[in-house]
Amino acid sequence: MYASLQTPRDLARTDAKERRLTRPEFQKHLLSAKSLTISDVDRLCRTAEDFELGALPPADVVGKTVALLFFQPSTRTRMGFESAVVALGCHTIGMENMAASRSNTRSGETLEDCAAVISRLSDMIVVRHHEVGAAERMAKKSVKPVINGGDGWNEHPTQALVDIFSLRRGLGTIRGKSICFGGDPRGRTVRSLVHLLRLENAREVVFCPPQHYPVPADLLEMLAEYQIRCRIVHDLAVPLRESDAIMMAPYDMSDIGEPAASGYVSPRMTPETHQLTAERILKANSKALIFHPMPRLDEIDPSCDDLPNAMYFEQVRLSKFMRMAVLSELLSIGTFS
Ligand code: CP
Repeated sequence: MYASLQTPRDLARTDAKERRLTRPEFQKHLLSAKSLTISDVDRLCRTAEDFELGALPPADVVGKTVALLFFQPSTRTRMGFESAVVALGCHTIGMENMAASRSNTRSGETLEDCAAVISRLSDMIVVRHHEVGAAERMAKKSVKPVINGGDGWNEHPTQALVDIFSLRRGLGTIRGKSICFGGDPRGRTVRSLVHLLRLENAREVVFCPPQHYPVPADLLEMLAEYQIRCRIVHDLAVPLRESDAIMMAPYDMSDIGEPAASGYVSPRMTPETHQLTAERILKANSKALIFHPMPRLDEIDPSCDDLPNAMYFEQVRLSKFMRMAVLSELLSIGTFS
């Protein structure tokens, strides 16, 4: 029989294609985690799993060109997208130094014009920029999908999808679980992940921020609106005892390429209360799984790396499959104006 000739890879490929064609509301861009529904997240996680199991890229995606426009430094997002693009049989174009493009402060070409041009030379734009709303500005003039790879302090939606995929993998389900955010709560990865956590029926969200950077009001308001219990603590000893997962961030994000913030505190001097070491985890007999979008500074000591709690490098491995899922959905759209 013809059907019996299909391998598990073929079947996964067919499933993934059907899911793409039956998605209820096709989004043109991925600019904010706010725009995602739980069915989007479920579908993307299933497609990412298919790619992890070896599903082949959809035929209509192979050979497409993805423009990577990184105005800010990046290791994981840049290389993660690049490896996902290669695995899908696509190509990347981009400039090593966006300051050498015309969209720099001296030449002054607008982000809108940059998007109008690059989207006519490629099938998709992935942009990272220090300015809040940069990806949205580009999307308004782009004739191809735009993915926000991080815009200032605002959002980083693909990292949030990677985080949800990794949390689900580690915990089985996020429903009913206590999820803690360690470190500076102002970062874009935190905002985007809180947007997605509101869909996942977590039992509670715990923040363990430095005293000098309170949790942003919009995050607290969002959790209140969705009636998700929220606690603020100032020592990781609490979530090590009481939470199922801790999503770490640097104690102070001001050093990692964001515009300088007022009240800057020198990084790499994380106080013990906000630092994870193998000794602390073992002493607490903690089963909490430790995640981190990375880069880490000194908030997770390398002594933690070999503990079963450490999920942050597995999180990076899984990121490739989630980015393949996002790319394959959006690349199938084509030109839209
Ligand atoms: N997680 C993340 O955004 O890392 P990069 O800054 O290295 O891309």
